[in-house]
Amino acid sequence: MLEQTVQIVSNERDTDSYFRLVVRAPRIAPRIQPGQFAHVRVLPLKDALLRRPFSIFQVSGDTFSILYKTVGKGTEVLVRMQAGEELSVIAPLGHGFTVPKRGGETPLLVAGGYGMAAMYLLAQRSPQKGIVFVGGRRRVDILCEKEFQSLGWDVRVTTEDGSHGEKGLVTKPLQAELKRRTKGRKLFACGPTGMLKAVGKIAEEFKVPAELSMDEHMCCGVGVCLTCVIPVKAGDGWEYQRTCAEGPVFDAHQVVWEAVK
Ligand SMILES: Cc1cc2nc3c(=O)[nH]c(=O)nc-3n(C[C@H](O)[C@H](O)[C@H](O)COP(=O)(O)OP(=O)(O)OC[C@H]3O[C@@H](n4cnc5c(N)ncnc54)[C@H](O)[C@@H]3O)c2cc1C
Ligand code: FES
Repeated sequence: MLEQTVQIVSNERDTDSYFRLVVRAPRIAPRIQPGQFAHVRVLPLKDALLRRPFSIFQVSGDTFSILYKTVGKGTEVLVRMQAGEELSVIAPLGHGFTVPKRGGETPLLVAGGYGMAAMYLLAQRSPQKGIVFVGGRRRVDILCEKEFQSLGWDVRVTTEDGSHGEKGLVTKPLQAELKRRTKGRKLFACGPTGMLKAVGKIAEEFKVPAELSMDEHMCCGVGVCLTCVIPVKAGDGWEYQRTCAEGPVFDAHQVVWEAVK
């Protein structure tokens, strides 16, 4: 983990709702593992002390990128920043996904909204190709479809309004696929908590291994403040673990879902 002031290479609109930010970070980029995140301080923001966490989307040479949606104060200032301006970044943070091995389990990736961003590096670094299930409310919420296809993955799209791909929730084609076959398959997911709970239940029902990225609200991002904890099974009981340090990726079968808000 390093704290660095980095320069923006580009910051451009990706779809109607998402922007793609590329920064030059030569000391950070080579250390990044799939599923890890960057904690970003938007320097021109008045309360710049609070950082914003974003999954690392792509790594290329000495740069890395994030895909972000404008939702509040921080991202609204971020969207106006231009190439050449600076951000403060702590990265890479957290415990990421286990990269599938060649000849091992076939990965089934499940992503809702910006969850796609956390999945791309996993798909790119996995020698074992599989299926990506991508879900969103509308067509504009579907990210990176072409990028996953160009990596040679089978991409299955669902939208809730039926404007692209199959109509319904992303878990519908996932369940259909698991009904066909469960042996030798492993789930990886990132997205809204509701979707993760559903994927967690499916993993239990079909008895398949699953790693899920739990994107809880975070303050410090480095394991100190305990704002990001979730309940995880331990021995005969359970304990709180920090999504910024022990996570964000957890074994779905270890999370105490009844107690997750
Ligand atoms: C591990 C992780 C990975 C993430 N990856 C992405 C990504 O790839 N793309 C993307 O668009 N968003 C991602 N998010 C959500 C992103 O952090 C929030 O959308 C962002 O912090 C909102 O900041 P804001 O100032 O615009 O919003 P505001 O609502 O004004 O934020 C105010 C405060 O709340 C915190 N906050 C608000 N929403 C969230 C949230 N969902 N998660 C954590 N903190 C939040 C902010 O850090 C800030 O301190 C991720 C969150 C986590 C925890
Ligand atoms: S955000 Fe502070 S401990 Fe996780």
